[in-house]
Amino acid sequence: MIISFVNQKGGVGKTTTAINLAASLARRNFSVVLVDADPQGSATRWQAVEDNRAFELFDLPDTILEEEFEILSDSCDFLLIDSPPGKSGRTRSILALSDSAIIPVSPSSLDIWSCQGTLEMVKAAQEQNPQLKVYFLVTKKIPGTRVARDIHDELEVFGVKALNSELGQRVAYVDAMKHGVSVTQFASGSKAAEEIEALCDEVLDMSSRVWTVTKEDFYPAAALEEEESEVMQSFDEKSYMPPEWRDSLA
Ligand SMILES: Nc1ncnc2c1ncn2[C@@H]1O[C@H](COP(=O)(O)OP(=O)(O)OP(=O)(O)O)[C@@H](O)[C@H]1O
Ligand SMILES: [Mg+2]
Repeated sequence: MIISFVNQKGGVGKTTTAINLAASLARRNFSVVLVDADPQGSATRWQAVEDNRAFELFDLPDTILEEEFEILSDSCDFLLIDSPPGKSGRTRSILALSDSAIIPVSPSSLDIWSCQGTLEMVKAAQEQNPQLKVYFLVTKKIPGTRVARDIHDELEVFGVKALNSELGQRVAYVDAMKHGVSVTQFASGSKAAEEIEALCDEVLDMSSRVWTVTKEDFYPAAALEEEESEVMQSFDEKSYMPPEWRDSLA
């Protein structure tokens, strides 16, 4: 199963989401490879902070060879690909190889407008790769804001399904990146970790419809909670937040 994270817009959360989803899938005993296909090398840098081995990370050399990807994809349950921003040939090649593409989009008009260009790329890829499925994922959502409330209606015009899971704008995502861990490793009881686990559930659910895994094979998140020693057990997410975010969560 190859899932790519794409959006021509930069800074929407492609890398953050790909890393956290990869860690969550690996935590449930799936074998996961994350391909860092972005020349910025953000995912590779994240891994280097703590030499994090939660999942395998593959730093992509210059070109994408289809046969190499097939071998890599056959060697694991989930191959996640973190794409660069922009509409380069590299992103087009990634889409041509993917089973599903997730487009992270944050609730802001600028981000929503830029979906058009991303979807044009997806449409072109679907001519070559008709089984490519595409989903929006709302990220960096600030609860209580009007634009956050309206985002699903605004995305509806594109005729692409938005995942039910949403990721809030939370300091835990930023801090976990800085420490070279996933949000679940950083603070397993935090809201951010809950969001990622819900996203993982949804991805597994959608994968089970096109793939051989059955629900019973999933390693339920709840069963893992007791086993894990937290990186920061006493982490209180709200205390890390600027007051305006804290208020918006109240
Ligand atoms: N849910 C979130 N809450 C708070 N901050 C976030 C969230 N997701 C991402 N960020 C922050 O937003 C910035 C951009 O995130 P990220 O690098 O994941 O985006 P990207 O789409 O991969 O960017 P690029 O297109 O440059 O590769 C980073 O500083 C990251 O820490
Ligand atoms: Mg990135």
